[in-house]
Amino acid sequence: MNFHLVSIFPHYFESPLSSGLMGKAVEKGLINLDYIDVRHFAGDIHKSVDDRPFGGGPGMLLKLDPMVKALESIEAPGRIMMLSPRGKPLTQAYVKELGTEEDITLISGRYEGIDERLLDLFPIELVSVGDFVLNGGEAGAVCLIEAVSRLLPGFMGHEDSGEEESFSSGVLEYPHYTRPDDYNGLIVPEVLRGGDHGKIEWWRRERSLEMTLSDRPDLLPEARLTVEDIDYLRELPRTRLGRNLYIALVHYPVLNKFGEKVAVSVTNLDLHDMSRVACSYGLGGFYATTPIQDQKDLAEQLLSHWRDGAGSKANPDRAEAFSKVKVFDDIEAVVLDIEEQTGQCPRLAATSARLDRSKEAEPAMTFAEMQKWLVKSPVLLVFGTGHGLAEEVLGKAEGILRPIRFLDGYNHLSVRSAVAIIVDRLVADEF
Ligand SMILES: C[S@@+](CC[C@H](N)C(=O)[O-])C[C@H]1O[C@@H](n2cnc3c(N)ncnc32)[C@H](O)[C@@H]1O
Repeated sequence: MNFHLVSIFPHYFESPLSSGLMGKAVEKGLINLDYIDVRHFAGDIHKSVDDRPFGGGPGMLLKLDPMVKALESIEAPGRIMMLSPRGKPLTQAYVKELGTEEDITLISGRYEGIDERLLDLFPIELVSVGDFVLNGGEAGAVCLIEAVSRLLPGFMGHEDSGEEESFSSGVLEYPHYTRPDDYNGLIVPEVLRGGDHGKIEWWRRERSLEMTLSDRPDLLPEARLTVEDIDYLRELPRTRLGRNLYIALVHYPVLNKFGEKVAVSVTNLDLHDMSRVACSYGLGGFYATTPIQDQKDLAEQLLSHWRDGAGSKANPDRAEAFSKVKVFDDIEAVVLDIEEQTGQCPRLAATSARLDRSKEAEPAMTFAEMQKWLVKSPVLLVFGTGHGLAEEVLGKAEGILRPIRFLDGYNHLSVRSAVAIIVDRLVADEF
């Protein structure tokens, strides 16, 4: 496999690409490294390859002409890739795909990057090695070359080594141990010393699953999991973010379609669907608020039908779902109730289908920001009936969650749908 390395610092690659297995692969001719020093293509006597950016701003940019000439000098560039923080993230699946190429050209930027027009002139694929900024693309290029090369037949001792590793089947690899089996009382797990390969395989799968759930739960949605894997994962202890999330459905004060402050009546459908969401996601609690006595009576009547009445006999599941619902006058009473239960004052956040466009408005809260709140303390997330929460409720909130479908024009979901979507985004299985 041929890597063509386009850089203003080709000597950067010398040590990492000549050490260990990588060095051996180059010696064996499995990998061929072709260094293209961009400075050789600089037109002036100073061999300058950079210049100031149009429009001002800090730093310098790599100029177009030396880059173009450097690329044109490569006879068979194959897939042309440029290391860039804005590129497609380098993953094991991406690495596997690249392993089938004969030639790969890797362009390393420096300074503030490269004149954007290079992308108009060549079919360049941008690749990132992570959401951080390096001084130059060379370190990223080394990561890519190593990851791709070690999958090539003949690179590693065992042909199957690459298959068992982290990310190959979507989960992290199990832990390894070597001699001595007892290091100052730290003993290697018995099963690994027993020689029963079936047991060893299952032990390793269990450790992989455990480590993935605790260290990288974000990998689980894409992991290929068997029913046995899922049964095992279900039994593992995990801290559920849902326990800190409390939701409230406000029936007053909310807006009507004319923007007037009104009270909206309690509905059986909202209570049902939101309590089922609260139960399915293990939320701390679900509150309905209305200060109107006949509405509170109506809510209690509905709840008691499903909790203790005929509904509970016909549908015992529903009784469980309704066990978390409480009806209070207003948000202040809800906050006090949560404080009593948890000993902590919940942080208050609101939801809205609309962005706050006022000049003094803070940017809407992201789901990731709210997840950080949930790790530390109870959070009361407030939803509105009618045409949404009135300003006096929104104004009390410490943050307003970014609307669902904020990039599209029409996002008028029923409150029940919005609750399900938002709760899933915040506290899905993997978190
Ligand atoms: C200092 S960085 C330029 C950063 C650029 N101004 C920005 O904010 O996106 C210089 C070069 O390093 C490389 N680089 C930096 N971070 C990278 C990353 N996370 N993945 C891949 N390449 C990276 C790119 O080749 C980039 O052109």
